[in-house]
Parts: sequence; C-alpha cells; structure tokens
Amino acid sequence: MAAPEERDSPTEASQPVMEEEETKTFKDLGVTDVLCEACDQLGWTKPTKIQIEAIPLALQGRDIIGLAETGSGKTGAFALPILNALLETPQRLFALVLTPTRELAFQISEQFEALGSSIGVQSAVIVGGIDSMSQSLALAKKPHIIIATPGRLIDHLENTKGFNLRALKYLVMDEADRILNMDFETEVDKILKVIPRDRKTFLFSATMTKKVQKLQRAALKNPVKCAVSSKYQTVEKLQQYYIFIPSKFKSKRLGSLNKFKAKARSILLATDVASRGLDIPHVDVVVNFDIPTHSKDYIHRVGRTARAGRSGKAITFVTQYDVELFQRIEHLIGKKLPVFPTQDDEVMMLAERVAEAQRFARMELREHGEKKKRSREDAGDNDDTEGAIGVRNKVAGGKMKKRKGR
Ligand SMILES: Nc1ncnc2c1ncn2[C@@H]1O[C@H](COP(=O)(O)OP(=O)(O)OP(=O)(O)O)[C@@H](O)[C@H]1O
Ligand SMILES: [Mg+2]
Repeated sequence: MAAPEERDSPTEASQPVMEEEETKTFKDLGVTDVLCEACDQLGWTKPTKIQIEAIPLALQGRDIIGLAETGSGKTGAFALPILNALLETPQRLFALVLTPTRELAFQISEQFEALGSSIGVQSAVIVGGIDSMSQSLALAKKPHIIIATPGRLIDHLENTKGFNLRALKYLVMDEADRILNMDFETEVDKILKVIPRDRKTFLFSATMTKKVQKLQRAALKNPVKCAVSSKYQTVEKLQQYYIFIPSKFKSKRLGSLNKFKAKARSILLATDVASRGLDIPHVDVVVNFDIPTHSKDYIHRVGRTARAGRSGKAITFVTQYDVELFQRIEHLIGKKLPVFPTQDDEVMMLAERVAEAQRFARMELREHGEKKKRSREDAGDNDDTEGAIGVRNKVAGGKMKKRKGR
C-alpha cells in the first residue's frame, strides 16, 4: 500500500463571472503562445468551461480534481498545463497519464501530439495487448509523456531495465473514478510507491465517487476541485429517450441494429469497454441495447454523443426486467426520460420483414459460398485477400506453396 500522503480536503474553485467566461481566450488563462497557436490549429477557438477553471490553477502548480460533463474538453484541460510546464522546464519522462482502456490511451496520446507537435513533444503509449518489446524500445528513448493502462506500466516498471519514473513531475488519472476502482487498486498503489511524492496530480472524470475522495486522501496535495457540472449531469444538448420492449423481441433486434452501422448515420452500440472517454466525432445516436447495470455507466455511454457542444440522441431499450435499473438511472441524472416515439404496428411488421430478409440473406450466402468455392477450384488464385488465402489453404492445399515464393 502506498503511504497516505496529505489528508487535505479539496478547496472549491471560485465560479467565474459569466460574461468574463464568454470572452476568455487560452492566452488569458496563461497558456503560452505556441500552445495557443496549436489550439487554434485544432479549431479550438476558445477554451471550454473546465479548461477555463482548471488551466490557470494547474499553471499555478495546484493539484486538481476536475469534474465536467462528457465531451467537455477535459483532456485539453490537463494536457495544456502539462505541455506548458514542459516548455518551461524541458525534461524526459515528465508526465504520466493513467487511463482505464487501451483505446483511450491512444486517443489521449493523439491529443498530446496534436497540441505538442510544434514543440517536438514525444509520447509513448504503454498498454496491454501490444508487443512489450517495442514498448521497451519506446521507453528507452525516454519520451516526455507516457500514457498507460496501469497493468502494463507495472510490467515495464518491474521488468524493463533502465526504466523508472523517479523524476516524474505530473501524474494524471483520466477517468479517475474508474482508475480507482477495486480492480486497479493494487496497480495504482504500486505506481504511487515508485513515483516522487513531490509531483503534481490531476484527477479528471465526468462522474465523481467516494473512490475519488479515497484517492484524494492517498495522493493529492492541497487539491482544488474544479467542478463545472453537478455530480451526475448529462449534457444539455443530449436528447434522451427510452423504448419499452418485451424481452422476447429484443435479441431478434440485434441483427437489424447492426445494419444501422453500415448506413449513413453512425450509431454506437454501447458496451462498457467503449463507454468511457472515447471521442468519436459525429456519433449522432447512442443506443443502449442492454441497460447498464451501473447507473454511472449510463452517463459515460450516452456521453459518446453530443460532444463538444454538438447535439445528439440516446435511446435506451427497457424490458420488463429492467424497470428498476431504469428508474435508478433517472434518479441519478435527475431527469424523467420520455418514451421514444415508435409506431408499434410498423415496428412489428418490420420485425417480420427483417426475419424474412435474414432467411433470404442466409440462403443467398450459402449459394454464393458454394459458387465461389467451385470457381476458385476452377480458376486458381486470382484473389489476394487474407480470408481468401485461408480458404485457399483449405481447399487447394498445394497451390499456396507456389504463391509463397513470389
Ligand atoms: N476548447 C475547445 N474548443 C473546441 N473543441 C474542443 C475544445 N477542447 C476540446 N475540444 C474537443 O472536444 C472533444 C471532446 O473532448 P474530450 O475528449 O477531452 O472530452 P472529455 O471531457 O474528456 O469527455 P469524456 O468525459 O467523455 O472523456 C474533442 O474532440 C476535443 O478535440
Ligand atoms: Mg475524457
């Protein structure tokens, strides 16, 4: 266990005056010119609320607990002050960002690179599921910023020769409440033990729990809380609905829902892996096909749409077994959600047509498969896809050997 550091409770940041907020620029917040230009190039014409609150305090050297709605620019709120400080005192292995998922780690690194490219910032992503050797090489080059999932970072801290974080200046926990969940507890404690106590710590998330307070006790020094949303707020521009559907019809819908993905509109079928932090532009609708069992996850899931001031829709399927969970969500976000208008008769008719179309599609696929198999056997190799090679391996054995030599 990491030794508890300070036990200060966070001070609250004073609320800025509304008109002032409207006109504030990144420069007004104390961000250095070259980074202001980088923001400009990203199309960030003015700072978001959380950026207005957190950046000046971070630049003053305060530890920060940043709470703001999904899609409100929290990444920039911690990346800009870190890059600003890095410019003032350049140093390798300067900052560590911990995130709960690989996808999020890559996304955060892209944002560091986008903001820091003109000043030559190097970052490394250290996550599971990817070759350790190449990561060791990346670490040997001593990047300025490391973005990591906790487990893989521990692996490298324990096994990669010459790698340590003893000079680290900044620690960020993005999705801090998730990072502080039980399943990361051991890793986080280990990491806290091997980084300097004399560092700055930033915690950011769209949802606040007691767990964050727990970490705050363990790792923060005289922190200031920047909260620009109430505890469990969803975005104003998000229209949220539910559809009541008897469970016997629900699995039948999965196939047709998947097809929406291929159409012009982007629809995200939320799973809890994709629920946090991912910033996919132009997601218009989030469909909760299964109701999230933890109400907080609902907030993160629906937060994949209506980001950065855009509007969006979220629709949640509720079966007879989900009513209690649904009511819990409504209670958490402090809103009663309207039912999504559908014409029951039409939907049921569509359900029949979808089932029929599926039968046809299966038949056609089967026939098509047969034909393809025959024509490949006749015509030999004229297709270079991996899938085709696999099939060819199976059906035409010896022919593959010839290809390899080419
Ligand atoms: N000042 C700004 N002006 C315009 N767009 C911005 C600004 N800051 C950030 N953005 C954009 O807003 C989007 C959402 O930002 P980000 O992913 O940091 O949100 P978040 O608050 O971390 O959300 P989540 O809680 O879901 O993780 C990104 O596409 C980012 O590029
Ligand atoms: Mg985020």
